[in-house]
Formats: sequence, structure tokens, C-alpha cells
Amino acid sequence: MATEVKGILEGKRILVAGVLTEASIAFSVARIAQEQGATVVLSNFGRALSLCQRIAKRLPQEAPVVELDVTNTEHLDTLADRLREHVDGLDGVVHSIGFAPQEAMGDGFPEVAWEHAATAFQVSSWSLASLTQACRPLFGDTASVVGLTFDATVAWPVYGWMGAAKAALESTSRYLARELGPDGVRVNLVAAGPLRTMAMKSIPGSKQFEEAWEGRAPLGWSVTDTEPAGKAVAALLSNWFPATTGEIVHVDGGFHAVGV
Ligand SMILES: NC(=O)c1ccc[n+]([C@@H]2O[C@H](COP(=O)([O-])OP(=O)(O)OC[C@H]3O[C@@H](n4cnc5c(N)ncnc54)[C@H](O)[C@@H]3O)[C@@H](O)[C@H]2O)c1
Repeated sequence: MATEVKGILEGKRILVAGVLTEASIAFSVARIAQEQGATVVLSNFGRALSLCQRIAKRLPQEAPVVELDVTNTEHLDTLADRLREHVDGLDGVVHSIGFAPQEAMGDGFPEVAWEHAATAFQVSSWSLASLTQACRPLFGDTASVVGLTFDATVAWPVYGWMGAAKAALESTSRYLARELGPDGVRVNLVAAGPLRTMAMKSIPGSKQFEEAWEGRAPLGWSVTDTEPAGKAVAALLSNWFPATTGEIVHVDGGFHAVGV
């Protein structure tokens, strides 16, 4: 008798925040999560909300979309209730959100005004905590929160305050892991290599990252393939990392491990 093969996310209810286009890392995550048996709800904000609603139709199953601007306190306060219209709880949350104003990136790092750096921190770092907190009423005995970073242990060209905000995101994930571990909540990040998404294309001079990866990543690297990052996020959402939290998994073709 043939046994049915179940996906690694069978029965899981997952919020995926940050689908903007089909090139978004979050789109790969949502697609793979559904293929692996999860029920997926998407979120985005402003103009990105209608784009997200359109893209939601291109998933294997159309996913509902809720509005969430992580800078809007009311959106955060009402998120759990609005998610309850679609799911009766949450087993996973994917934070695939990042933004820094143009003024906060490129050259001139020490000249950047606080207001621009502050936006980068609020949207790209603090929001991992506020989104997790907003979803906590829906968590059961266990839950997995996964975010996306760009290796912040070193300084990059042109990344500017987005890089500093990523360092804060990495630290934020460890603080969340520490405090929420006793409640069964795991918090981990995937450090992806450069991918040609809207977020990356908005960084002036981001081609430099692509050039750096070329020939240096031991496994090679495709800047248009978000599937490796999506698969790693799915794995961290699954029951296959039950004792892992506060971790950063590199999905960069091995770039971080080699000097030149
Ligand atoms: N593209 C890369 O090379 C790369 C590499 C490593 C990590 N990342 C990270 O992956 C994550 C996803 O980015 P992406 O590359 O898929 O690009 P993307 O542009 O497709 O996604 C970024 C998302 O952030 C959302 N967002 C921005 N401000 C928001 C706000 N105030 N409230 C709610 N959502 C908001 C956007 O609407 C968009 O959906 C980001 O954290 C990014 O820094 C990207």
C-alpha cells in the first residue's frame, strides 16, 4: 500500500509578511510553505498591499492578505484579531521586511541624519520584535519566527545604515530567542546572499554585491533564484529544527566562509 508523503509544514498556519513581487524572497517562502502543506496568510502595506493581493493569486492556492505597516501602531494592535478571520492560531511568522530611505544608504555614512537612520531601524530591526509581539496571542505551545538578514558581521559598500539596521535585527533575534524560548517560541534568521528583488534594486550600487559573489561563493550563486532562501526559511519553520533558536543560517553559496 502506498503511503502518502506529507510535507514538512503539514497543518501549520503561517503568516508571511513582505510579498511584493514574484521576485520577493517572501514569495518563494509562501509558495514552498503551501507546497509543504501549510496554510499561508500574507501581509503588506500601502501601495504594496494591492501588489501583494495580485501576487497572492499566483501562489498554488490564493492566500488571504491582511494589511500591516509595521510603523502603524493600530495595525500592530489589531493584527491578531484580523488574522483570526483567516486562521485560528499561528505556528509560524516570517518577517521578510526591510527598508531604509535612500538618504541612509550609499556613501556618507557619518553624515546621515537620525530621522533617516531611525526609519531603517524601525522598519528593518525593531519590527521583528513588534511583529512577533503582535502575533503572540495566536501562538500555541510552540511557534517559529524567521527573519531575513544580509550578513551584518562586516561593513559592506553602499549598504550604509541598512547594514547597521541588519546588525540590530540580528541582535534583536537573539533577545527575542532568549526571552520567548521558555514559551516555546524559536526565533531564527536566514542570511541570504544578494538577490535581485525590489529591496535590493533600490540600493544604489548594489551590483557590487553581485560582482563580489561571482566566482567567490564556493557553491556558486544565482541572484535571481530565491528558492534556496525560501527552502531554508521553510526548514526553520518546520519541526526539523526543534532545538535551534537565536541562530543565523547562511544561504549564500558559502560566501561567508571564505576569505577571497
Ligand atoms: N534581496 C537581497 O539581496 C536580500 C539579501 C539578504 C536579505 N534580504 C532581506 O530579505 C527581506 C525581504 O526583502 P526582499 O529582498 O525579498 O525584497 P522585497 O522588496 O521583495 O521585500 C521587502 C518587503 O518589505 C516590505 N516593507 C517595507 N516597509 C514596510 C513596512 N513599513 N511595513 C510592512 N512591510 C514593509 C515591502 O512592502 C516589501 O514587501 C528584507 O529583510 C531584506 O533586507 C534581502
